Amino acid sequence: MKALQSVIRTPFMWVEGWLDWAFGPRWNPMYYLGGLGFFYFWIVAVSGLYVYVFFDTGLTEAYESVESLTHSQWYLGGVMRSLHRYASDALVVMMVLHIIREFAFDHYRGPRSFSWITGVPMTWLVIAAGVTGYWLVWDELGQYVAVRSSEWLDWLPIFGEPIARNFMHEGSLDDRFFTLLIFLHIAVPLILLLVMWIHLQRVSYAKWKPARGLALGTLAMLLVLSFVQPAVSHGPANLDRVPLLLDLDWYYLFAYPLVDEWGAGTVWMIAFVGTFALMLMPWLPPRRRRPAAVIDLDNCNGCTRCANDCPFSAITMVPRTDHQPFEQQAKVDPDLCVSCGICVGACPTAMPFRVSSDLVPGIDLPELTARQLRDKIHTLAEKLEGHSRVLIIGCKHGIQSRKLVGDNRVAIDLPCAGMLPPPYIDYVLSKDLADGVAVVGCRAGECQYRLGQEWSEDRFERRRDPNLRKRVPRERLARIWRAPVEWRRALADIEVFQQNLTRLADQSETAGVKLTKRKEPQS
Ligand code: HEM
Ligand code: SF4
Ligand code: SF4
Repeated sequence: MKALQSVIRTPFMWVEGWLDWAFGPRWNPMYYLGGLGFFYFWIVAVSGLYVYVFFDTGLTEAYESVESLTHSQWYLGGVMRSLHRYASDALVVMMVLHIIREFAFDHYRGPRSFSWITGVPMTWLVIAAGVTGYWLVWDELGQYVAVRSSEWLDWLPIFGEPIARNFMHEGSLDDRFFTLLIFLHIAVPLILLLVMWIHLQRVSYAKWKPARGLALGTLAMLLVLSFVQPAVSHGPANLDRVPLLLDLDWYYLFAYPLVDEWGAGTVWMIAFVGTFALMLMPWLPPRRRRPAAVIDLDNCNGCTRCANDCPFSAITMVPRTDHQPFEQQAKVDPDLCVSCGICVGACPTAMPFRVSSDLVPGIDLPELTARQLRDKIHTLAEKLEGHSRVLIIGCKHGIQSRKLVGDNRVAIDLPCAGMLPPPYIDYVLSKDLADGVAVVGCRAGECQYRLGQEWSEDRFERRRDPNLRKRVPRERLARIWRAPVEWRRALADIEVFQQNLTRLADQSETAGVKLTKRKEPQS
């Protein structure tokens, strides 16, 4: 499974790198696949409402009303109809890419299995909403969809009367069927919306809204497509005739030719096995559970920062259970914790300067405690000498640190770069353990734990607490956010950083000499 994930992940990373370069991380569509899915859903909903106002639910009226909307009102109704179609197609594309990406980046196991499992029924709901839409137009394609869907559904022993009977000949269908269909076409998306909401319940700060520029850009593309290639109907349905040439929408109707080829039973079998396999995937194989973050009440002052920063809502603030003069204390739900350590990076008590008491923060990771991190930094720093000593703080999920270490460079890997409490950088530089610190983590939208890169940047830029103190010389901190496929570039960034550190050392030596020279006459 790991090999398969890696094979799929690599092209994603390259494409995402190019899109980062072209549009910047905020407008990179690959980082907002789910969010774009939501956006297209809303476009479908709004354009659908408009189309619904003009839609007639009758056997002949359905087709005529859609035709009239498309042609006599092409500048608005026609565009709305096209938007409705193309945004639905785009929703499927986003959903498929989203599934593949979550799988490739291993974002679907452990506590994330909740989002994965709630995602699976969404695939069915999206397809069901699309199929009923095609059916409603009641053109030749709608007729084909109706006949094949009913044959397909009739294979299941759940309907007393075969539905296909309704489509035997022109006289067998009545208007009530369209009323039922329009009900389904509205009810299914509403259920989808509810499941979409449930889907995000375990994801904090879910990116369900793409950045405005990205949203408007893709909307503009859909609008252009709607004008250039408006969605049109086939000829009217006629149950006494079999439609021969159809322009199939492969996004929604891909299964229909398979029903023709292989028969309803086989396609049901594939669909059931596929859905079941998708449901089981988070346990194939299960994620090795790592020890969850633990709270030390003696050191927790109830500041809420860890709860605010946890990307998986694993921390809640609860009333105090000890006698300390604080109202709240943090509580970790071990079933939701992915052991990323981002909470440790957020905790104001993860303070390496502490000497009067042992270094035990309010929240800590048993696998790599704040105390162990400080000790490791000391041990590694002993190997460095000269003027360009660099301590690399890397990420286990990012570039392998063995590719970055070298001449006067040592590295320590954290579960996520977001685990690093900013005071550690201050500590390393002020204690002269290294000349520079390079934080090397994953690119903005590729963080294994979603928010590690974002929170780190916010802390370094002093937008988020605990922030990096002003006294820390920024030229001695390198922030390198690169994908594992870009390790050569990261290495080059670090080498340039080292050269700059040497230059800084030379400058301060020269300044020192000048100062001494200037001081000489006085002495
Ligand atoms: C209409 C279709 C869908 C929409 C609109 C949608 C939307 C979203 C959004 C907005 C997020 C949050 C992303 C973030 O903030 O990092 C998300 C997360 C997720 N989605 Fe979907 N999703 C859809 C379908 C699916 C499907 C079909 C699956 C899988 C079968 C799936 C699996 C996941 C997983 C595993 C996560 C959690 C990712 C993480 O924790 O990093 N989604 N989805
Ligand atoms: S960040 Fe630290 S001090 Fe603040 S609530 Fe969490 S554990 Fe307690
Ligand atoms: S380790 Fe990560 S998932 Fe667990 S509580 Fe801390 S921030 Fe949340």
